[in-house]
Amino acid sequence: MMQLEKGPIGVFDSGYGGLTILKELVQALPQYDYLYLGDNARAPYGTRSFDTVYQYTLEAVQWFFSQGCELVILACNTASAKALRSIQQKNLPLIDPHKRVLGVIRPTAEVIGQFSDTGEIGILATNGTVESDSYLLEIAHFFPTIKVYQEACPLWVPLIENNEFNSPGADYFVQKHLQQLMQKGPKIDTILLACTHYPLLMPKIEQYLPKGINIISQGSIVAQSLIQYLKKHPSIASTCSKNGQIRFCTTDSKAQFDANGAIFFGKPLKSEHILLGH
Ligand code: DGL
Repeated sequence: MMQLEKGPIGVFDSGYGGLTILKELVQALPQYDYLYLGDNARAPYGTRSFDTVYQYTLEAVQWFFSQGCELVILACNTASAKALRSIQQKNLPLIDPHKRVLGVIRPTAEVIGQFSDTGEIGILATNGTVESDSYLLEIAHFFPTIKVYQEACPLWVPLIENNEFNSPGADYFVQKHLQQLMQKGPKIDTILLACTHYPLLMPKIEQYLPKGINIISQGSIVAQSLIQYLKKHPSIASTCSKNGQIRFCTTDSKAQFDANGAIFFGKPLKSEHILLGH
């Protein structure tokens, strides 16, 4: 019988945010190998056009394939919102129909309604994710009666990427967007952090929200969804190598990635530099 090619599970983000997802994936499925890529040199993606995010994400996906990945997770809501569908429908059939690229929006939309009693949910995300209306459409599919309010927080990712998420400057922007969201939907009882960077702002978000509101980050949701996916698709699971190893790559400075990435991943890490789009 032909030996199947095996490779690590690819995990992609514009920068550091996907490390909050990778952390949970490794905890839930430690036996697999993972290859992480942060496109830090071109982050943030949240304010970029559809075409640019699609182009950058496709370049990243092709790089993962060149490294032997059979399964890639876009651990970035912006890339999932703006590039995933095109990559799945247009590019994968031409590149290799056996390879898989998954995102973080659908698995989150599948469960988010379960957290709300009032039936009103708030979404905090980048401009790109909000403008795509991906969450409105996906949540309506799984929970048609739930009301969804969105708030774009364009400065949150730059604050986080620049290590300013604990600074007093961050308080202003956190408070401002939470207030605006709660004004749109005063009955909101569940708020989704629909950007993989935002868990870093959790202490400030908790501080400025009324008590009793569920604040949901995506890491464990995506990890549970991957467990189910690999169970349902054993042929894909069999293409993922299992040595418990993690490789970290960045398109920008390694030293900076190692210093900042450790905060998101919760552990020290050592990265390699790679080039995209050359
Ligand atoms: N972590 C990405 C997301 O989940 C972010 C963003 C960005 O580069 O703007 O949307």
